[in-house]
Amino acid sequence: MNFALTEDQKMVQDMARDFAKSKIEPVAMALDESHEFPEKLIKEMGELGLMGVNIPEEYGGAGFDTVSYSLAVMEIAKGCSSFAVTMSVNHLVCEIIRLYGSEENKQKYLVPLASGEALGAFCLTEPQAGSDAQNQKTTAKLSGDDYILNGKKAYITNGTYSNVFIVTAVTSDKDAPKKEISAFLVEKDAEGLILGKPEHKMGQCASNTIEVTLENVRVPVANMLAGTNGFKVMMNGLNSGRIGIASLCCGLSMAALDEALAYAAERKAFGKPLNRLPVIQDKIAEMGTLLEASKLMTLNAAFVKDSGSNYAKTASMAKYFAAENCLKIVDEALQIHGGNGYVREYKIEKLYRDARITSIYEGTSEIQKVVIARQMIR
Ligand code: CAA
Repeated sequence: MNFALTEDQKMVQDMARDFAKSKIEPVAMALDESHEFPEKLIKEMGELGLMGVNIPEEYGGAGFDTVSYSLAVMEIAKGCSSFAVTMSVNHLVCEIIRLYGSEENKQKYLVPLASGEALGAFCLTEPQAGSDAQNQKTTAKLSGDDYILNGKKAYITNGTYSNVFIVTAVTSDKDAPKKEISAFLVEKDAEGLILGKPEHKMGQCASNTIEVTLENVRVPVANMLAGTNGFKVMMNGLNSGRIGIASLCCGLSMAALDEALAYAAERKAFGKPLNRLPVIQDKIAEMGTLLEASKLMTLNAAFVKDSGSNYAKTASMAKYFAAENCLKIVDEALQIHGGNGYVREYKIEKLYRDARITSIYEGTSEIQKVVIARQMIR
């Protein structure tokens, strides 16, 4: 077994690390305060190929593998997880169009998304359909060559700035024996697509999250992905998205560990630096070990995806493990900071808030275990 990175993987990792250090880290704390979406910097990431790392070059991407993508998300998330979630959701949208879009869909939507000229949003969640994602109320009714969509989507990442939205809707009749869910590509300028105000969130404040309402939105049949298999489309997309979020968790944990190490070297207690105290060394060892395991599981999931095998289980395991341990790592890193960790001046306070969503979005930890168990038992 060879764990060494290839030259390409190292190059992508270095490039993402340089960008995060030079462009993201200097502004991350201020953006957290202002809740501003960093539109210009996201565009710059696109120019570097960071918005379509593992999408083939013929479709506007950088043409690298999923391991490279995962390494890039880790570095960007180490700079600020708001940038990483923006990037990860865009890749999720790209992946769905790559897998299920027609050639026309790919040229029209995937090329601009993967090259970073445009941004994408994934609209599955509804006010009553979070973990129970099949409980969809949005409807799509056929009318000539178009479907007419009506409904509401909640917690949509990138919504305000997206050019294309993948939207699920129920296409079967109310009394049909089996509910059919379909997925549609909806353009931002579609009449009746109403974008809500950005949510005021606890963390990841420089990422954009809104409610999207659809009022008689006309979508051409040509923008329907995989017929009535829309739920499967979204689930398969989420498998890939979960590698992105697992990578984000690793990057966030890397940042928290760095903060803890720096603080423990600087701060003195009982006449010596904190890092000389066994109780602190125990915490550092625990955090380092959990992070190492999270990274290995995440890169393994990316590797399994690249190898072409079914990766639903490994992706959910990585997302579950990396998110739960990200929460533990930021918590211990804050604990090492003592009271200082509880005030805004210290970066760990931001990391702690940023981390809380990771065991919730793209499938809660509880849902990851449902996916893992179903893959193991079938
Ligand atoms: N990969 C591929 N197929 C999957 C799958 C997966 N991970 N999970 C389920 N499926 C398939 C099943 O095999 C099944 O197919 P068949 O009908 O052919 O058997 C079909 O989907 C329905 O699955 P279930 O019977 O298991 O359906 P369920 O309703 O009991 O449970 C669930 C499904 C796994 C709980 C699903 O609803 C789920 O994943 N929920 C969480 C939704 C989620 O992750 N939302 C995140 C929102 S996006 C987001 O957060 C982005 C962001 O902004 C950061």
